[in-house]
Amino acid sequence: MALDQSFIERNRASTDRIRALAARLTYEEMQHPVGEHWTAAIALAHLAFWDRRVMVVLDAGRLSPSGGNEQPWRFGVITEADLIARMADIAHQQAWIAQAPLVIVLCTVGVDDARGGRDIQCDGFPEYAEAIRHMDQDLYQALNQEEHQTKIAGTHMVLAALERGIGSCWVSRFEVKRLAELLNLPEGYIPSEILVFGYPEHPGMAVEKKSLDEVVFYNPYNRTRQSGGHSDDFRGNR
Ligand SMILES: Cc1cc2nc3c(=O)[nH]c(=O)nc-3n(C[C@H](O)[C@H](O)[C@H](O)COP(=O)(O)O)c2cc1C
Repeated sequence: MALDQSFIERNRASTDRIRALAARLTYEEMQHPVGEHWTAAIALAHLAFWDRRVMVVLDAGRLSPSGGNEQPWRFGVITEADLIARMADIAHQQAWIAQAPLVIVLCTVGVDDARGGRDIQCDGFPEYAEAIRHMDQDLYQALNQEEHQTKIAGTHMVLAALERGIGSCWVSRFEVKRLAELLNLPEGYIPSEILVFGYPEHPGMAVEKKSLDEVVFYNPYNRTRQSGGHSDDFRGNR
């Protein structure tokens, strides 16, 4: 079903209204506490955020590819400040999470063994095939979590958000069972990743990344490369 795009105009109008309100507030007023975790600035960001642009983010996840088109995911949209603060605690006290206006919990739903997930892993790791085949179903689900699949949906969401000026951060470190209890998740839903969204307070810091030379190889790994290095290659192509 095509997504109703009429929210774009409504978004623009509400963003303008909130911008006008923010322009009237002093810096001190912006820092005024709202509840235990928020300031007025965060509350305004929350209001500006909570329009239907989040639907575009969710739709980017929904449309993601998955092996065999199994779509073994459910997306929990968490907007209540109190829940988000408790999630920060469950994520090993990562306090910064409590300020976020939106958190999406990427859950996996176990794919039936008959669909062949274990077979794929046995083929990939024949030396562990026996152990994989006999692993208890619950343990297998917990370890496997179809997590590579939710990472694909999450990546699409993150990029869709970024396109709209919304920043995000992945969070993998959290207590799975406690989060499932907090969110009252049905049996079989396993929280696998948390995506924390918000408008960045500061411009993104550049983090050091490995060079292409360090992360790319061509053809058989041990064959000598013919080009003079990636930076030269790219300069040559521009
Ligand atoms: C799967 C995954 C899990 C992550 N978990 C956390 C986390 O629990 N807490 C946190 O502060 N950052 C977390 N991060 C953020 C990474 O630390 C960050 O992406 C990395 O330092 C690279 O920075 P960049 O995203 O700006 O390129 C996670 C990132 C990924 C991809």
